[in-house]
Amino acid sequence: MGRGRILVAGGGGIAAYKLPELVRALRGAGHEVRCMLTPAAANFVSALSLGAVSGAPVRQSLLDPGEEGEIGHIELADWADLIVVAPATADLMARMAQGLADDLVTTVLLASRAPVLIAPAMNVHMWEHAATQANLAVLEARGIARVGPEAGELACGWEGLGRMADPETIADEAERLLGAKSLAGERVLITAGGTREPIDAVRAITNRSSGKMGYALAAEAAARGAEVVLVSAPTALRCPAGVRRVSVQTALEMHAAVRDEIAEVGVAICCAAVADFRPAQASERKIKKEDLAPGEGLLLELVPNPDILAEISRDRGARVVVGFAAESHDVVAAARRKLARKGCDLLVANDISREDAGFETDENAVLLVSPTGDVEELPLLPKREVARRVLDRVAKLRDTHGETESS
Ligand code: CTP
Repeated sequence: MGRGRILVAGGGGIAAYKLPELVRALRGAGHEVRCMLTPAAANFVSALSLGAVSGAPVRQSLLDPGEEGEIGHIELADWADLIVVAPATADLMARMAQGLADDLVTTVLLASRAPVLIAPAMNVHMWEHAATQANLAVLEARGIARVGPEAGELACGWEGLGRMADPETIADEAERLLGAKSLAGERVLITAGGTREPIDAVRAITNRSSGKMGYALAAEAAARGAEVVLVSAPTALRCPAGVRRVSVQTALEMHAAVRDEIAEVGVAICCAAVADFRPAQASERKIKKEDLAPGEGLLLELVPNPDILAEISRDRGARVVVGFAAESHDVVAAARRKLARKGCDLLVANDISREDAGFETDENAVLLVSPTGDVEELPLLPKREVARRVLDRVAKLRDTHGETESS
């Protein structure tokens, strides 16, 4: 797996003394490694030892002509398949969150399009501080992956969360992020957002879906090398880099767009909150109160929309089809029934009774339910991390489907 090019960005914390061990673990897994250090990091680990274990010169300064001559900072940013920031200190996280480019490390981080993994390490109070947590939220919303910190005795004498994850754990996480080039050459269709079903010229029936989960899936699938088409109901979100977006409003438009694209894709993920019903007739003109008798109610007739997920599951062949479910009670049983009814390969179930997860939030706690009835319960995670876990499962399903086809 992997064999990637990993750039280790060392921050200025005591945990930097573990960097040679991290570099050794990454190289042991077959990766090519280069290191760069912040000026503060150089107080905790020597460039000489990192140069020796990485087998490459260590970069420390943005404006050093000698260093730039070896490998320029933009070249370094382009070279990396993955950047591992370890230890990610409170200060470094703050500068990353702000998008500063005030030293070599932050400049390279800003110039690179590679995925980034941070391994935070700091005093427990610094970690828990609202400023650090806000910076973390910004970084995670941007798709940055994180490992640790872990709980234990800290170098500062306090006990608590703040220890850097151990080098083996960081290396495993890096391996997972890199190994995940698994969707190269794959075509993936994702539906996202809440459809909007017009009642009249200004009013519509819609729902609370923000589209964030579907967009995180699209961004992650694209980062893994897939060609992604995102059939999106209206959202306020930016289309992720490298993703082709087809914008729709209604369930019928989404249905038509999916039909146009489905033959070309190997994976379809239905993440959209599709209105199950639409007004039988949408008035082209605004419905006016003056057209109604005083006190008279308005009766809307609703007719069912096509079930996109059920339809594409039925005709899927070797295609992998994933569905989502929003459940408010009895989640596992309801999810199993829904999976059987829709006929997809994997169902991602949200418990919408939780306040910290699901609609409109940046985090999600989901269950992954398989047709065999197996249930994997994931903890509360940033949506991008949920996307990673779902796509890990998709890649496995693609492999097994491929085998069944060729056998
Ligand atoms: N879905 C779809 N087309 C529809 C309705 C739902 O593709 N017309 C997909 C969603 O994208 C999601 C899954 O089906 O993947 C969610 O189903 P949901 O609407 O929650 O379940 P229902 O079958 O409508 O059951 P209920 O609303 O009773 O929970």
